[in-house]
Amino acid sequence: MTDQPRRMRIVHLAEAKAHRDPITMLTAYDAVSSRIFDEAGIDMLLIGDSIGMTMFGRETTIGVELDEIIVATRAVARGVKRSLIVSDLPFGTYETGPAQCLDSAVQLIKAGANAVKFEGGVAVAEQIKACTDHGIPVVGHIGFTPQAENALSGPRVQGRTDDGADRLVEDAYAIQEAGASAIVLELIPQAVAERITKILEIPTIGIGAGPHTDGQVLVWTDMAGIGDWRPSFAPAFGNVEGALRDAASSYIEAVKSRAFPTREHSF
Ligand code: KIV
Repeated sequence: MTDQPRRMRIVHLAEAKAHRDPITMLTAYDAVSSRIFDEAGIDMLLIGDSIGMTMFGRETTIGVELDEIIVATRAVARGVKRSLIVSDLPFGTYETGPAQCLDSAVQLIKAGANAVKFEGGVAVAEQIKACTDHGIPVVGHIGFTPQAENALSGPRVQGRTDDGADRLVEDAYAIQEAGASAIVLELIPQAVAERITKILEIPTIGIGAGPHTDGQVLVWTDMAGIGDWRPSFAPAFGNVEGALRDAASSYIEAVKSRAFPTREHSF
């Protein structure tokens, strides 16, 4: 017997789907937040390219570099004992073909990821197969795919028409057939997410895709109530922004009033 919690492995994703046990996933970008989420019991942590917006203040995810994800992956891996770590391949690091994709994915696995995620369906099936053939688990990502936001004209719900929904189903199948272990469904109607979840053997993880997916993922800063705007599908589950501001204000006040440090904080 050991006190160590069970390490989440790829095999446990399929088990969770079979047992209808909802999979929980949050983004994480550093050792501090990943340790906290890991201790809270999160199943999967995603070093998402959302790091470009949430942590680096960019307008979109498009400028994110592989090196930035590598540094964040190393940090997250240091904070984690249990969760399955998934790292995003940023825009421009996998599209040209299987060799480019494999090269990028290897770097993320070496940095501590257990799996990689990248956007697209049929168009990236060869890339998914190249990774899975070489022992690198893949999480797919369809629906609104932020790296394609120029082509999609911004964050819009995808698959609203019958044709659009059928295309998503086709993409989902292609991802499964290529050997992926799970698939993120972002910003699609709940009925389409339910349809995909029912026909796929691999688990679906939804964000803005309703309640019928096998799991849910949120950007952690949205989940924790940081920032004055969040998407309508992402309620705040806490007020970390308020707590952090209060702590900073108390510290400033204590220093200004010379209430801190006292003798007990001194040597
Ligand atoms: O980069 C990210 O945070 C993501 C999630 C929104 C799924 O891809």
